[in-house]
Amino acid sequence: MTNKIQILASIVILSLAIGCGNKKPKKSNAQTFDIDKQLSYCAQQATKTLTLIPKDGKSLPRNIAPDSQEWRFINYKDWTSGFWPGTLWYLYENTNDQKWKEQADAYSRYLTPLSVTPALDHDLGFQVFNSFGNGYRLTGNPEYKEIILKTADTLATLFNPNVGTILSWPREVPNMEWPQHNTIMDNMINLELLFWASKNGGKKSLYDIAVSHADVTMKNHFRPDYTSYHVVVYNRETGEKIKGVTHQGYADDSMWARGQGWAIYGYTMVYRETGDEQYLDLAQKTAKAYLDRLPNDLIPYWDFDAPNIPNEPRDASAAALVSSALLELSTFTKDSILAKNYLDKAEKMLVELSNNYQSKDKNSAFLLHSTGHKPNGSEIDYSINYADYYYVEALLRLKKLKAGIPLTASLVTKTK
Ligand code: GLY
Repeated sequence: MTNKIQILASIVILSLAIGCGNKKPKKSNAQTFDIDKQLSYCAQQATKTLTLIPKDGKSLPRNIAPDSQEWRFINYKDWTSGFWPGTLWYLYENTNDQKWKEQADAYSRYLTPLSVTPALDHDLGFQVFNSFGNGYRLTGNPEYKEIILKTADTLATLFNPNVGTILSWPREVPNMEWPQHNTIMDNMINLELLFWASKNGGKKSLYDIAVSHADVTMKNHFRPDYTSYHVVVYNRETGEKIKGVTHQGYADDSMWARGQGWAIYGYTMVYRETGDEQYLDLAQKTAKAYLDRLPNDLIPYWDFDAPNIPNEPRDASAAALVSSALLELSTFTKDSILAKNYLDKAEKMLVELSNNYQSKDKNSAFLLHSTGHKPNGSEIDYSINYADYYYVEALLRLKKLKAGIPLTASLVTKTK
């Protein structure tokens, strides 16, 4: 009897092996990933959203609650106001369709007041560089350039030379010891506005401010394992570090997913703008801290140290922005194995987002399952405009990389 079973088992194993041998190797999801299909999906969803926005000259879509189809709208003052026009600019870049250009121009112009009013906070880069910055890159419209340059000067008014960084929140925020000085990791992204302005007719001091901010943040925001504090509070007179804390993460010493994402994205960008290897090194170390602890599907929980993982909300926005950052980081990384790892991981993140996180007919955003501010109980498991912005940015970046086009190049010919 035992012999019979052994013979039967051998036959089964052999026929399975022969069967496998006859089949062509199965392509992985990444090998069959259709980037253009995902970009067309984004265009279809954005077309639906355009029909849902009140035509009042001020409303911009920010988020949609789970199981809802209704966007919550914000105006230009909201920190996320640049993501919708920025998304429209990317759709224009991908299609060269004037419809997207007209819409992108119209919604960008909602944000013009930011260039002529005092700074509300550090978010001016998210707002004006994603909108007018992309617009200028694609059109060369001098009106946009003027708006960007004026806004860069406005952002620079928040720089505190005693500390060496920009004051992220010039107001009372719980646990920030106002009126002491606070700087948040997210602020790294806004340095791109300053770098750009300094190289395009703005003051040289804007470059110095951006470098100083990056250096002081590098010194104070990172723990020995290269996870990051969301916020550092400094003595505003002496520049002394008072404490590292969180605002949107689980705990002061936890790794808040999007915050770590801002670090990876931010230092990759600072390396691009300065060519200084210490920033590349930091971008790689922060990427390692993030990649090493991801779940198998590469979409992080909202905080890597959240207490109830796997029963915690995900943050698709962090996955989208990290995917985009890794694509750029892969182009700077000299170690070819590491560079390929960044590229592969970034593509797998996009495959996962496309296969399992798209909103499809649930609502007209691109993605579901982002988490904005868990400790505040807000935007938990939502569709959020910045997830969509970085998703479409990452798709376009991947498309450019596969076509051998530099990431900073425009896919459309400049026409004002
Ligand atoms: N800048 C705020 C956030 O990442 O939620």
